[in-house]
Amino acid sequence: MGKFRKIGVLTSGGDAPGMNAAIRAVTRTAVYNGLEVMGIRQGYQGMIDSDFIPLRAESVSDIIQRGGTILKTARCEEFRSPEGRKKAYNNLKKAQIDGVVVIGGDGSFTGARLFNEEFDIPIVGIPGTIDNDIYGTDCTIGYDTALNTVVEAVDKIRDTAAAHNRMFFVEVMGAEAGFIALYSGIATGAEASLIPETKGQTRNLKAMIEKGNKRKKTSNIIIVAEGDEEGGAFAIAERMKTDFKDYDVRVSVLGHLQRGGSPSAMDRVNASRLGHAAVEALLDDQKSVMVGIQNGEISLVPFRKAVKLHKDVDHNLLLLSEILTT
Ligand code: F6P
Repeated sequence: MGKFRKIGVLTSGGDAPGMNAAIRAVTRTAVYNGLEVMGIRQGYQGMIDSDFIPLRAESVSDIIQRGGTILKTARCEEFRSPEGRKKAYNNLKKAQIDGVVVIGGDGSFTGARLFNEEFDIPIVGIPGTIDNDIYGTDCTIGYDTALNTVVEAVDKIRDTAAAHNRMFFVEVMGAEAGFIALYSGIATGAEASLIPETKGQTRNLKAMIEKGNKRKKTSNIIIVAEGDEEGGAFAIAERMKTDFKDYDVRVSVLGHLQRGGSPSAMDRVNASRLGHAAVEALLDDQKSVMVGIQNGEISLVPFRKAVKLHKDVDHNLLLLSEILTT
C-alpha cells in the first residue's frame, strides 16, 4: 500500500478512558489496509528506548471496554530536546516504522509538531484527554466518560449534603479548562461552577447562596475546577467560611478517579471513528495534523492550530447554570 508498510501507535500524556478503543481502531484499520503495526510503549519514551511491540488484529481483542491504556503512557522530558527526538527518529527508522499515530493532548502534539518539522516520518494525532481542551474538535476521547463519572459522584455527594444541610465544595480536574466543572455543574444542578476561564466568580457566590436560602434551600454544591484562578477547593472553602458562617462546609476532591473506568459508549464510538480516520489520514499522505470531530464530521486540524488556538467554554452556559439554579 504505497509507501506505508508499517505504522506505530502510542498514547502520551494523562491517560483517558477510550484510549484503548482508539488503539484498537488504529490497529484494525491498519491491518485491514495490509499494514503492520507496532505499539510504542510509554509514550514518546518508548520511541527513545525502542520499546516496541508488534500489534496484530487479535492483540487488541477485549480492550474496547477497558480504561487506562494497554500501551502505558508518560510525559516525556527527553522528547522535548532535539537530541531526544533524533534518538526517537533513528529508532523508528531502524524498526522500519513509516508513520506514527499519537493519541494524547496538546503537550503531545507540540512534540509531534516539532518532530515533523525536523524529520520525514509523518505523525497524525488523535485528541485524548479528559479535559476536552483541544482546539479543533468538539470532544476529546475520555471527556464524556470523565464527565459522567463526576456526575455520578456529585449526585452521591448531593445525597449526603442534603441529609446534613451542608455546603460542599467539590474539586474536579481541569488545570486550565472548565469543561468538566461547567458541564457537571449543569448536569447535577450545582449552585455554582467555578472555572479558570472566568475571573472573580466567588464575589457573587454569597448573594447567590443567600437567594437560595430565601427559598429554603438547605444544601449547596459548588463545583471548583482545580485550575480556578482563586485556588483549589480547600483554599476557596477556607476563604468562604467567613461568608457562610451558618453552614457546615465540607470539601471533596475527586482526583484521579475521574481518569479511570470503562469508557462510555460515546467515547468508544468517537475513539473508533478517530482511530480509523488517523490511519486513513496517514495513507492520504497527511502529516502534522490532528483528526477531530466537528459537528459530527471528521476533520483534519494542523497541529499548529490545535496547539496554539484556545478552545473556550461556552460562556452562555454559566448564565444558564445560574438561571436554572435560581
Ligand atoms: O490533562 C489531564 C489531567 O487529568 C488534568 O486534568 C490534570 O490536571 C492532570 O492531568 C493531572 O496529571 P497527573 O496525573 O500527572 O497528576
